[in-house]
Amino acid sequence: MSHDGSECAQGAEAVITETYYLGHEAVVKYRPPKTYRLPELDAHIRSSRTRNEARIMHEARNAGVRTPCIYDIDLKQCSITMERMHGTMVKDHLDDHPEDAERICRMVGECVARLHTARICHGDLTTSNMILTDDGQICLIDLSMGCTRAETEDIGVDLRLLERAFTSAHIDLMPAYEAMMETYYSIIPDPKAIKRKVEDIKNRGRYT
Ligand SMILES: Nc1ncnc2c1ncn2[C@@H]1O[C@H](COP(=O)(O)OP(=O)(O)O)[C@@H](O)[C@H]1O
Ligand SMILES: [Mg+2]
Repeated sequence: MSHDGSECAQGAEAVITETYYLGHEAVVKYRPPKTYRLPELDAHIRSSRTRNEARIMHEARNAGVRTPCIYDIDLKQCSITMERMHGTMVKDHLDDHPEDAERICRMVGECVARLHTARICHGDLTTSNMILTDDGQICLIDLSMGCTRAETEDIGVDLRLLERAFTSAHIDLMPAYEAMMETYYSIIPDPKAIKRKVEDIKNRGRYT
């Protein structure tokens, strides 16, 4: 948090600031310039990630997946003003309440299945990019690396990332992870093809 208290989170890439938008609690997600990149290239990357993030958030919501509502987007500044979510990062909730892990993981499985059934991939599917809202929903955030019309490969990569999130951050919760995947595979239309792809990716040893 910054000295003035308004900057509430600094991720790898973005600066998140709490604000109000027409009376609604909001956050601004701003992508500052990266000085190590050529300025034109940097402006292009930041602006296309901003645009992509807003687009995927919108598409995901149309597919029935909770994402913050978008209030405004500024492609020049490379910022998105969106609904401020109240809740806990799923990662923190799992750490603090392992007894609740299976229930939460099944909700995550359902949420990701809805996303993938709509052929949308998240692009950075970790428990840090999910918020358990105070009203008990799973809300996905940080969708700038996502895509629509996802191929089985994109979906497999999403799942591989999620598995790695568990093996690296929640190793004690592997039974809950299995429950999550059971829920996931019970919902998606072609579980066999996806399972095969995930195995493929594992065997290739690639995960990004
Ligand atoms: N809509 C939101 N409401 C509340 N907090 C948010 C919201 N969006 C992001 N955050 C907070 O900011 C952090 C970083 O946001 P994120 O979109 O994941 O950016 P980064 O690409 O830097 O990881 C999140 O982990 C979360 O704590
Ligand atoms: Mg993030």
